[in-house]
Amino acid sequence: MTSRLEVFNPATGEKIRSVPEQSAQQVKESIERSHRAFQQWSKTSAKHRASLLKKWFDLIGEHQKELAKIITLENGKPYQEALGEVTYAAGYIEWYAEEAKRVYGRTVPASVTNKRIIVTRQAVGPVAAITPWNFPAAMITRKAAPALAAGCTFIIKPAPDTPLTALELVRLGHVAGIPEDVLQCVIGDGEEIGSIFTNHPFIRKITFTGSTPVGKQLMKNSASTVKHLSMELGGHAPLIVDQDANIDLAVKQTMLSKFRNAGQTCVCANRLIVHESIKDQFADRLNQEVAKLKVGNGLEEGVSVGPIINQKGFQKIVEQINDAVDKGANVLIGAKYDVDDEKSCYFVHPTILTNVDLSMKIMHEETFGPVAPIITFQTLEEAIKLANDTPYGLAAYFFTENYRRGIYLSEQLDYGMVGWNDGGPSTVQAPFGGMKESGIGREGGQEGIEPYLETKYLSIGLDE
Ligand code: SIN
Repeated sequence: MTSRLEVFNPATGEKIRSVPEQSAQQVKESIERSHRAFQQWSKTSAKHRASLLKKWFDLIGEHQKELAKIITLENGKPYQEALGEVTYAAGYIEWYAEEAKRVYGRTVPASVTNKRIIVTRQAVGPVAAITPWNFPAAMITRKAAPALAAGCTFIIKPAPDTPLTALELVRLGHVAGIPEDVLQCVIGDGEEIGSIFTNHPFIRKITFTGSTPVGKQLMKNSASTVKHLSMELGGHAPLIVDQDANIDLAVKQTMLSKFRNAGQTCVCANRLIVHESIKDQFADRLNQEVAKLKVGNGLEEGVSVGPIINQKGFQKIVEQINDAVDKGANVLIGAKYDVDDEKSCYFVHPTILTNVDLSMKIMHEETFGPVAPIITFQTLEEAIKLANDTPYGLAAYFFTENYRRGIYLSEQLDYGMVGWNDGGPSTVQAPFGGMKESGIGREGGQEGIEPYLETKYLSIGLDE
């Protein structure tokens, strides 16, 4: 009998639907179909692939409300935020529909007269994607769109918490005309499918968004077949508020960065590093804004902070808050929880911690929750040291009106993405990705199609 995955609403505990899971054998068959389909798909014209992607984009636009509702139901994020995610997700498809036509090679002057050198680009092959629950739509389209545009075939393994968005996106892709074997979705045990993907010689690239430990394991497992890899891993973003920052702007952007998706994003500010001279002013203003946030079911009017995805995520957040409080942090607001263990519903009220120091776990580990710990600094060098003192390097933010300090900070921060007076730099046109243990490769922008392309050099010898 086919096993089924049950999907629950994290805000109410209700079962939404169950979906069939694929067996190991079925996953292998999907890979074989992907391999066969690649032979044709990679030879289609870029114009053709672009037109199908454009149709997919249009269909997502037509179904944006249904898609947003699915996201809110299975992920918990507020409906308006889910609608925003659908627009963001669709944007990647539109962008790569356009980029498909701009995959250029080059000719290079040879050092001898009887040779010609031509460099071309071609699709890497069938791609397997393992995607997370925190952006059930955008983390799929950010990978699938450039892959399909480049001529790769694509198999998605979505997170078990949020498979419904993936299935609906894939269905719309097929309605748009993308062949079924070119775009597939497999559901099932993460470890088992991950191991099949990484060991199968037909899969030429793995693209993953998720935790650093899982990313490292996928990298190890992919070594035996030397696959292309894109890894978008954990973050521990610093957000520096300098002495000459526009405080209102800094507070507004901190709210955006910290509390989007209940703080469950890889790029959200995890450490607020605030100049000693403005710490009280900044904390008071932030507190006023946090007090306005309404926690609850994302389908209810006015709710701005939804549930934490599951018990494991919840426990990690509570542990970090308790550890900080035990070591002397003050709770300015929050550290309150609405929990129903029977239904597996976990809500964390947005929390601000002050008097934070480096002995606390929250200063060293990704929180993935709505908690804003404030640590202070006196000199810019001190702020930079605090900011860079982590194995992660995904996103960093700073607020200053002083352009000299701003340029200096932007150059000193070891992060793949830096927001200067901007708490929400993610956008389809720009390369998203991290340095150090936050990952390999970039998604989005001109750079985002590169990981799906191989370079081939042709040397033509001519008669003398
Ligand atoms: C993430 O948290 O992984 C993605 C967030 C974004 O695209 O802004």
